[in-house]
Amino acid sequence: MTKIITHANLWWWGKSYTFISDDGMATIEIAISDERPDLGELRSLMVHESARQKGIGTTMLRFAEHKANELKLEQLCLNARKGTFLIDWYRRHGYEIYDENCEYSNGQTVGMYKNLEPPTEEEKA
Ligand SMILES: CC(C)(COP(=O)(O)OP(=O)(O)OC[C@H]1O[C@@H](n2cnc3c(N)ncnc32)[C@H](O)[C@@H]1OP(=O)(O)O)[C@@H](O)C(=O)NCCC(=O)NCCS
Repeated sequence: MTKIITHANLWWWGKSYTFISDDGMATIEIAISDERPDLGELRSLMVHESARQKGIGTTMLRFAEHKANELKLEQLCLNARKGTFLIDWYRRHGYEIYDENCEYSNGQTVGMYKNLEPPTEEEKA
């Protein structure tokens, strides 16, 4: 991967940004509903099987967080499947559990969130 391409989408419920590595091996998405413009939902984090455990997932997540800051979001949330390494992985990236039993997945996932750093005075200027 040499760069990450951004695709912005408008929906009836809000907007989303899809980020794709230029080699097509990894994606992540931020969805923002019109009802909660301060909150981004992370979706579709995916690294091709052949490219995993080389830090690409972390790079994609950091890229999305950086974009979320640029978009002035205050918080990111996501769903992670129970019983997988993902919950610890996201914890190590600063996410905390807010819902132990997500209703939409019949309790098969947990809801996690992270508060984003507010922009510094320099960034605001
Ligand atoms: C989650 C995913 C994006 C991580 O991508 P990645 O590029 O492998 O992640 P990174 O290389 O940045 O992180 C690697 C770390 O994650 C953990 N990890 C990754 N795969 C793991 C596995 N199969 N079992 C246990 N731990 C694992 C390890 O702690 C590893 O750290 P280490 O390399 O120091 O051992 C990738 O596994 C994936 O696409 N999974 C399928 C889709 C999915 O579940 N997406 C998440 C939706 S919430």
